[in-house]
Amino acid sequence: MNVTGSKSFWPIHDDYLFFQEQSTEADEDLRSYMPHVHALATGSGPIRMLDFGSGSGRFTRQFLGLAGLPSDRLRLSLVEPDEEYRQQAIEQLQPFTVHPVQTWPALPPHSDARFDLVLANHVFYYVPDLDEVLASLLRALTPSGLFLAAMAGKRNTLIQFATYCFALINMPYPYHTAEDLEASLDMQGEVYRKQAMHYELAFPDAEENRLKVMRFLMADYFDEIPRQPMADLFSPYTQTGRIVIKTGHEQFVIQRQAMRAT
Ligand SMILES: C[S@@+](CC[C@H](N)C(=O)[O-])C[C@H]1O[C@@H](n2cnc3c(N)ncnc32)[C@H](O)[C@@H]1O
Repeated sequence: MNVTGSKSFWPIHDDYLFFQEQSTEADEDLRSYMPHVHALATGSGPIRMLDFGSGSGRFTRQFLGLAGLPSDRLRLSLVEPDEEYRQQAIEQLQPFTVHPVQTWPALPPHSDARFDLVLANHVFYYVPDLDEVLASLLRALTPSGLFLAAMAGKRNTLIQFATYCFALINMPYPYHTAEDLEASLDMQGEVYRKQAMHYELAFPDAEENRLKVMRFLMADYFDEIPRQPMADLFSPYTQTGRIVIKTGHEQFVIQRQAMRAT
């Protein structure tokens, strides 16, 4: 059975923030995205960007800070189902553009050829109708558009932790993985570049901290899982009073090439 579910971030904002603050995942993603993004700034027209699954805007604030896109050229749109995140993202990201930031809880219809840049950073796990949404996002790219996505696969240590915990309650891992994104891109005949990313999650070793990471991973299911086996998953990663996990994920890059008139 392949059950793929949605995930509400509202109850786990603090736990996700803990993960963001204690891991180098965002730094690595930013470093790798930037060379692709800098090419966008070379023209003179509007740069229409969609941040799909923006969260609080924390990641995209760093992204735009590094990208240096001119604020009069940047037109920013966000898709984020969590209302509190949407409001936070507007506050974080409005300073990067002179145009009003546009937000939606889901991608609106009729978005074809609307965006020069689509960013989906660690979002597709939680999109149940992945094939359909991905196809809409790819159609939303302009003929010279850039698509950037990051997502972890089954070799990621945290996905393995979560898979183990779901098995304790007789459930398969309910979210998508990088393998699903790759299969969907292949099915849609897309040409993409895939790059392996490496990052570290490291934090002071305390049961509370171990469980914060697990609450982020398990969300609605957290209370159904016995605490001790969850906390014990981290024990092989202790290093002088800290937990240090080195793991990784994948980035997917699609650069559309507009046909030049001859
Ligand atoms: C792991 S967070 C990533 C947030 C941000 N992109 C970042 O890199 O920090 C996943 C985000 O996807 C959002 N999300 C969940 N389901 C979604 C859906 N069906 N469409 C768009 N976003 C979704 C969540 O609300 C959450 O903000």
